Amino acid sequence: MESILEAITSGDASPADFAALAVPESYRAVTLHKDEEQMFAGLDSRDKDPRKSLHLDDVPVPELGPGEALVAVMASAVNYNTVWSSIYEPVSTFSFLERYGKLSPESARHNLPYHVLGSDLAGVVLRTGPGVHAWKPGDEVVAHCLSVELESSDGHNDTMMDPEQRIWGFETNFGGLAELALVKSNQLMPKPAHLTWEEAASPGLVNSTAYRQLVSRNGAGMKQGDNVLIWGASGGLGSYATQYALAGGATPICVVGSEAKADICRAMGAEAIIDRSAEGFKFWKDENTQDPREWKRLGGRIRELTGGEDVDIVFEHPGRETFGASVYVTRKGGTIVTCASTSGYMHQYDNRYLWMSLKRIVGSHFANYREAWEANRLIAKGKIHPTLSKTYRLEETGQAALDVHHNSHQGKVGVLCLSPAEGLGVRDEELRAKHLPAINRFKGE
Ligand SMILES: NC(=O)c1ccc[n+]([C@@H]2O[C@H](COP(=O)([O-])OP(=O)(O)OC[C@H]3O[C@@H](n4cnc5c(N)ncnc54)[C@H](OP(=O)(O)O)[C@@H]3O)[C@@H](O)[C@H]2O)c1
Repeated sequence: MESILEAITSGDASPADFAALAVPESYRAVTLHKDEEQMFAGLDSRDKDPRKSLHLDDVPVPELGPGEALVAVMASAVNYNTVWSSIYEPVSTFSFLERYGKLSPESARHNLPYHVLGSDLAGVVLRTGPGVHAWKPGDEVVAHCLSVELESSDGHNDTMMDPEQRIWGFETNFGGLAELALVKSNQLMPKPAHLTWEEAASPGLVNSTAYRQLVSRNGAGMKQGDNVLIWGASGGLGSYATQYALAGGATPICVVGSEAKADICRAMGAEAIIDRSAEGFKFWKDENTQDPREWKRLGGRIRELTGGEDVDIVFEHPGRETFGASVYVTRKGGTIVTCASTSGYMHQYDNRYLWMSLKRIVGSHFANYREAWEANRLIAKGKIHPTLSKTYRLEETGQAALDVHHNSHQGKVGVLCLSPAEGLGVRDEELRAKHLPAINRFKGE
């Protein structure tokens, strides 16, 4: 691994130099162990501690298949799917690996008694498999997390519709929280040159998801002037949704859970902010009964902030706790676009407010390659910025996941893999200098 790192940090190694490097037989990776699937049985979600379930192991390097690339991972990031995997909720991710393993001899490689997690990476291509011509050893890359087979016709208009669509490092093995990762070559995208490894690794999953969910015609298709209610506006998804709303001429109405998070939204340029903790919003009277008066209070606050207007789009992901309110506050003909259910997936809302006011609920999930590419291109051009707040070492991934699990983080949390320190990997200092305050916004610098 030393010689790989040396070649990357030297900055002048050629594709031939990279191709000549020996690939080690094993690598360090953050794993779950299949024989620990039941370790948290009976505990409340909050008490399930990722530091206990996430291990740092030496695992064998997987065989490289057709259409694939082996990448030296300089940095990765924690996503909420890392939290779901590490607490074995709502299901153990080993069930995904078992199902995938039945598909083909190639996919059978993924069904192992350990699961290497991680759905983001920034690094350097080491090897490419047969049939890969667009990428070569030495290319500095980031990877999006859409894994597709595309043998069915279903996915050929929009690859998210492939019946064998999976999220890499969550529903497949050999993810990015490791020194090496195995990806399909159609997951690769150029690393933004003005960012460090850890900054470049952090947008991937959430940036692409927010782009499809809010901007793409496959999602809400936001337009100039729209009012967009964004739950968790300084969190992983929300920190990108807020930027897309601002950059696209819309007005974000940012909902956050603390004053510090409100400050970050203001720093991004948002003006309409609702602190759900300080303002005491409580949409449920008890576990089974919602409180429509609270929906109305939220609607009233939105009108105060918008000069009397309702929201065109609600950017939904908290799920059960907020969904009734989201459907209520959307304007006539507006869209509730949802990609998750963090607080529970059995949603309840008053359907009269949906059908009588001709609203639409749109389901959205990750992004196709093109959408991920467009989202990454905006990062590379300095139009959208990473929201990295804190970076951990690979050994500390459990703590990083715990921070996200307990919602004590801002934006995205990064993880150094092969990179020995933060701050490395910048190739375009001029573009970086232009955007430095925005790049550092979430780091509190
Ligand atoms: N389908 C997909 O492709 C996809 C992609 C990415 C993420 N997701 C899912 O989306 C969810 C959010 O991901 P993320 O990366 O944005 O996570 P995150 O960084 O934890 O941010 C979510 C934010 O939502 C807010 N929130 C949490 N629970 C809430 C509740 N009960 N009511 C209101 N607000 C609440 C919190 O902000 P405040 O406390 O400041 O309000 C939190 O910071 C997760 O469930 C994740 O698995 C899905």
